[in-house]
Amino acid sequence: MKAFPAPIDPRLLEPSLAEFRQSYTLPGEAYTSPELFAWEMRNFFEPSWVCLGRTEGMMKPNSRRAVRVGGESILLTRDEAGTLRGFFNICRHRGHELLPAGASAEGILIQCPYHGWTYRQDGSLRSAPRLGLRPEFMVADHGLTQVRVDEWEGWAFVNVSAGARPLNEHLGNLAEMVGAWAPRDMVETARMDYVVEANWKLLHENYQECYHCAEIHPELCRVSPPTSGINIAATGMWIGGWMDLQEDSATMSLTGQGGAPLLPGLSAEQRRRVYYLALFPNLLISPHPDYVLSHRLEPVSPTRTLVECRTLFPRAVAESEGFDGSYAGDFWDVTNRQDWAACESVQRSAASRGFRPGPISEMEESVFQFFNMIASGYVDGHISAPRNPTILAKPKR
Ligand code: FES
Ligand SMILES: [Fe+2]
Repeated sequence: MKAFPAPIDPRLLEPSLAEFRQSYTLPGEAYTSPELFAWEMRNFFEPSWVCLGRTEGMMKPNSRRAVRVGGESILLTRDEAGTLRGFFNICRHRGHELLPAGASAEGILIQCPYHGWTYRQDGSLRSAPRLGLRPEFMVADHGLTQVRVDEWEGWAFVNVSAGARPLNEHLGNLAEMVGAWAPRDMVETARMDYVVEANWKLLHENYQECYHCAEIHPELCRVSPPTSGINIAATGMWIGGWMDLQEDSATMSLTGQGGAPLLPGLSAEQRRRVYYLALFPNLLISPHPDYVLSHRLEPVSPTRTLVECRTLFPRAVAESEGFDGSYAGDFWDVTNRQDWAACESVQRSAASRGFRPGPISEMEESVFQFFNMIASGYVDGHISAPRNPTILAKPKR
């Protein structure tokens, strides 16, 4: 697909394309323009590996589900053997959707609700009833159009662009980073869903810094020093770093104490840190010493994002007698709500004629990495890997 620059005046992007210490955040249009949002879905999300959520419990064998990926509707199928496949949710007859977006269904056959064409779970056409005399019609030529689906560490991803690079190249060294926590063996213990009245990029930007922590997160500051933190040099499409735990805290919870054993595969350092890793375009992974927190972002409009926050514990721990992992969800629900309120406030301001891009602090280099990558993507017509951080140790104050 030929790349076209985003529908935004490139002069407005110059401050975001400057070097870190001269840079300014994105212009207000980046958070409010419906045209730009549609362009982002088409050019950032659809050609990327979009996370669909945890595979566990997502779909039973012999079931199907229609999900939104950018501006596309995708039909996922899981067959008897457990194989997950993805197709454009479009009948090959006259294009009716096979399932309404968001809906699920069961059964080994997929029947189009319009004229009754039937497909198998592998997308092949099984029957086109009452088609009549079309001697040249080949059933084999009219299967559903497949899209790429892959799984990593228990998360499912889809990529609707035929020419995109494989998921492992998209992940780069994130796979190595996260492996020690073994999220593949984890199960969801808390599910917190939010409708946030803010652009998806504001949620990324907010996730990338703790400059705001002293102001809005008193509970967090009690268990993790807000000025601690190191950025990580990434390969692949992610940005992130870690923060320390306070000396008297074992994990992120309202008391600083947990209720589950520390994860066995971690180094002594990893047991004293919390990592914040944002995989473009929509999965935030936060490994803790005893659990993993994740946020999946689903942009709905320029001003609204659905967020699915999950706490993940090893299956053996979650299923053990007397286990109570609520300390993790309780802490992050409080912190999430503080963050969403801040993002929603910025969103309201971004729509104002009085909004001006702002200079960022030394503690916000990861925010710079993010908006610089976005601004470059607007100009180039496609997203490329973020710059590496120049400050690998954030200043201590
Ligand atoms: S559009 Fe699906 S059967 Fe006609
Ligand atoms: Fe925050």
